[in-house]
Amino acid sequence: MTVRPRRSVLYMPGANTRALEKAKVLPADALILDLEDSVAPEAKAEARENVCEAVHGGGYGRRELVIRVNAIETAWGMDDLRAAASVEPDAILVPKVSSPGDIVTVAKVLDAINAPSRVRVWAMMETPSSILNAREIAALGADPETRLSCLVMGTNDLLKESRARALHDRVAVVPWLAMAIVAARAYGLDILDGVYNDFRDDVGFRDECEHGRTLGMDGKTLIHPSQVGPCNEIFSPTVEEVSWARKVIAAFEEPANRQKGVITLEGRMVERLHLVMARRTVAIADAIEAMRRTEEEWF
Ligand code: COA
Ligand code: MG
Repeated sequence: MTVRPRRSVLYMPGANTRALEKAKVLPADALILDLEDSVAPEAKAEARENVCEAVHGGGYGRRELVIRVNAIETAWGMDDLRAAASVEPDAILVPKVSSPGDIVTVAKVLDAINAPSRVRVWAMMETPSSILNAREIAALGADPETRLSCLVMGTNDLLKESRARALHDRVAVVPWLAMAIVAARAYGLDILDGVYNDFRDDVGFRDECEHGRTLGMDGKTLIHPSQVGPCNEIFSPTVEEVSWARKVIAAFEEPANRQKGVITLEGRMVERLHLVMARRTVAIADAIEAMRRTEEEWF
């Protein structure tokens, strides 16, 4: 089983060259180099150049590099897409997705300009229509030709569009997150939680990471370097979870249990579905450990 940990995914404005440089040593699993909403209209062209130069220049080690382009129907969209594809990032993040057509259009442009198939597409789930169409959008994940591999919650835009209140218990947001999570899971996609704006509030941020993980998110999008460490910690399997998972795997490997669908382990019922979960937990823990070792060699 190969899994790609996407615990911490840090946005940075493409106009901020200091941030683009700093990100090379931050322990984030992925970076989103933004050309869209964090870049003012006058700075769009320069940001595009900065971001393409950064991706082309490399030096980001094991971090996945994702470029968020402007929507294709904007004045910058097509130029962004062409420029981004030419430097072959790991993925292109499409903003303001409303329907599957928005992803299909981007995939067609990428094919037309011969972007290699390893350049994937991620989709921002941030319009009311994206939630209503979550199933149809996520279903594109079943067809590798569409390149769709990850959904990214845009909770700030969803709050704005829905006129809901941004309270700390996320009472308005939870149904949208839950809809998108089941859609992602139904079609084998990863999904990332939205950002926590109050980046000086460590306690509130940790609570929201826990909340996202409890809901089933693979990781969280971030806005500030200080959020990376706590986010990695909370979205990593705990020592107890990994140790239990290894016990479950070992128990089903015992000759007496090989043919069994259900067993008792330390007084608990354990079924084969728990074995599947255990294998995933161990695969993620191993991948995190492998990344840590690569990082050590890198520096
Ligand atoms: N990625 C990489 N580096 C970042 C960063 C980010 N998202 N945010 C801040 N930094 C760097 C700063 O450049 C600064 O580096 P320096 O000390 O070498 O100058 C350092 O971290 C400390 O920054 P700080 O002073 O605490 O923050 P700030 O007031 O300069 O910036 C924000 C605050 C919110 C404007 C900034 O963090 C940011 O732009 N975040 C991303 C916003 C974004 O991309 N939004 C779009 C999606 S929601
Ligand atoms: Mg947005």
